Amino acid sequence: MTRKVCVVTGSSSGIGAATARLFASQGWNVLVNYSRAPEPAEAVAAQCRALGADVLVVKADVSQDADCRAMAAQAQARWGRADVLVNNAGATKFASMKDLDALDADDFHKIYAVNVVGAYQMARAFAPLLRLHPGAGIVNVSSIASMLGTGSSIAYMASKGALNAMTVGLARALGPDIRVNAIAPGLVETPWMQDGLGPGRYEATVQAYKARAVLDAVISPEDVAQTAWYLGVHATKTTGEVLLVDAGLRLTKA
Ligand SMILES: NC(=O)c1ccc[n+]([C@@H]2O[C@H](COP(=O)([O-])OP(=O)(O)OC[C@H]3O[C@@H](n4cnc5c(N)ncnc54)[C@H](OP(=O)(O)O)[C@@H]3O)[C@@H](O)[C@H]2O)c1
Repeated sequence: MTRKVCVVTGSSSGIGAATARLFASQGWNVLVNYSRAPEPAEAVAAQCRALGADVLVVKADVSQDADCRAMAAQAQARWGRADVLVNNAGATKFASMKDLDALDADDFHKIYAVNVVGAYQMARAFAPLLRLHPGAGIVNVSSIASMLGTGSSIAYMASKGALNAMTVGLARALGPDIRVNAIAPGLVETPWMQDGLGPGRYEATVQAYKARAVLDAVISPEDVAQTAWYLGVHATKTTGEVLLVDAGLRLTKA
């Protein structure tokens, strides 16, 4: 039987890389995508190949519709199918919540272009391929920031709120052929937060997170990958859902 195909945007690092590796370890072929430096993407591709996957590495900026369509054309030419699309690529600007002057319209547009429009363009470009085989799924990587009003900036949390709403809209639009769900992770141990906050603030944020989360933990990229695997492959009667993976942060310790 032909191997199934998982397309993961932003898979040269963090959550996307862990997701590509997990699908590869389960006997799937994977498309690894990045938008800037090729070396990390090639390293992830090598790990996936070592797990037995055929891998396409594609440089594409998901905010550019032509790039999304070119990615779909490459998947079509290589495998003639796509079974799961994980819209994981994300953008933000770290800006103080209390300083409304720290963000301007251009910041909002740049963040929305990747986090919202990018996911939309990818869904549109890949829908014809996803429809070819029953059970196909799209998984959008959102954030708990959309629900708590926390995170790197107001523009970021608003973009992830829009992504949650779009998840429901796309679930209606693409059913019954394609299920569309989202994951809302809490703090995940990736370069995203490490680089964004810097070493001292990052460690303090991790400790503060653990102090509030009922499970006394932060999230690993592999935790999110496992949820993408569940929603993309196994949750055959679930669509339009936004699933928290937050180690119980939202419950807050008593
Ligand atoms: N880390 C957290 O605490 C956390 C929490 C909740 C949600 N999330 C979400 O999880 C997702 C992944 O974050 P991460 O923590 O794994 O970050 P990461 O380690 O910084 O990885 C981000 C990935 O996205 C790629 N990327 C960025 N802009 C892109 C674009 N326009 N087109 C294609 N690829 C692009 C990056 O590659 P290039 O550098 O080559 O572009 C990289 O592969 C994001 O959507 C983020 O909002 C993260």
